[in-house]
Amino acid sequence: MTSLAIAANGLRKSYGDKVVLDGVDLAVPEGTIFSLLGPNGAGKTTAVKILSTLVSADPGTGSIHIGGHDLAVDPQAVRGAIGVTGQFSAVDGLITGEENMLLMADLHHLSKREGRRVAAELLERFDLVEAAKKPASTYSGGMKRRLDIAMTLVGSPRIIFLDEPTTGLDPRSRHNMWQIIRELVSDGVTVFLTTQYLEEADELADRIAVLNDGRIAAQGTAEELKRLIPGGHVRLRFTDPAAYRSAASALRETTRDDEALSLQIPSDGSQRELRSLLDWLDSAGIEADELTVHTPDLDDVFFALTSGTTVPNQPKEAVR
Ligand SMILES: Nc1ncnc2c1ncn2[C@@H]1O[C@H](COP(=O)(O)OP(=O)(O)O)[C@@H](O)[C@H]1O
Ligand SMILES: [Mg+2]
Repeated sequence: MTSLAIAANGLRKSYGDKVVLDGVDLAVPEGTIFSLLGPNGAGKTTAVKILSTLVSADPGTGSIHIGGHDLAVDPQAVRGAIGVTGQFSAVDGLITGEENMLLMADLHHLSKREGRRVAAELLERFDLVEAAKKPASTYSGGMKRRLDIAMTLVGSPRIIFLDEPTTGLDPRSRHNMWQIIRELVSDGVTVFLTTQYLEEADELADRIAVLNDGRIAAQGTAEELKRLIPGGHVRLRFTDPAAYRSAASALRETTRDDEALSLQIPSDGSQRELRSLLDWLDSAGIEADELTVHTPDLDDVFFALTSGTTVPNQPKEAVR
C-alpha cells in the first residue's frame, strides 16, 4: 500500500452564508498528480489555502493530514513539507529573478553559499539564466510562473500545491509548464494541481476530482470519468449507398446520416463490442469504408457533472 501525501476528510468552509466547501474528501497518494477541477468560484483556491495552512477550515471538518502530519496539531511541520504556488504569484517585480531566488533561500535559512548554488541551479533548470539579472516585472507571464515555481522549489518540498499554474498562459508556455510538472513528479514529488482546463487535468493527472457546488461531484482517473457518461459510439462511413442502406436497415439503435452515408452506433468502444460489430459486418457481407471509435471526452463529463443533470450508470468506485 502506498501512503497518502494528502488526506482530508469532510473539508468544510463557509464565508458568511456562503458554503464554499461542503464536506470534501481528498486522498492523494505520494508521488502522484492529483487535479482538483472546477469552474471559477468552485472553491479550488479555498481548498488549497486550507490544505496549505493559510486559511483555517470550519469546525466540523474531519482530520487533515499532509505529508503524514496532522494539520490541526502540527501546522509548522505541514509548512515544512509543502510548497505553494498561488494563482497570484509570490514574485516581487521590483527585484530581479535572481534576487527573488536568493530572498527565498534566506527565508529557508540556507547559507549564502548554499543559497547561491541552489538559486543558480534552479534558474538554469527553469531556463531563466539570461533573465536572472533583470527585474521580474519585465518577465513574460510564462517566465513569471517559472520563477514562481523555481522559488517554491528552493525549500525542496515533497508536496507542491499548484493553483491554476497555467491560467492566462499562451499555449507554448502552457505546454512548457506541463513538462515542468511532469518532471517534478518524476522526482517523486506529489503535485496537487487546480485547474479550470479539462485538457490539462486529462493530460497530467493520475486522478481528477470535479468540484461543484462545494462537493466532489465525481472523481477517478480521466478514463473512469469519461465512462460515467453516455455518448461513446462507433461511426461507420460508406461510399456505396447500397451497403449503407443494408447496414442501416439491419443494425438497430443506429443514428443515420443519409447524406454523409454514415451510421452512428452506441458503443463503449470495448474490444468485445467492436469485435461483435466487425463479425456482424463480415457475416452480412457489408464493407464500411471507415470505422471510427468516439469516446466522450472530459468536456462532456464536466458539463454533465456541473450543469446539474443526473449522470446515469455511475460505477461505484469512480464516484463519491
Ligand atoms: N476571503 C473570502 N471572503 C469571502 N468569500 C470568499 C473569500 N475567499 C473566497 N470566497 C468565495 O468563495 C468562493 C470560492 O472561491 P475560490 O476558492 O477562490 O474559488 P476558485 O479558486 O475555484 O475560483 C467564491 O464564491 C468566492 O467569492
Ligand atoms: Mg482560484
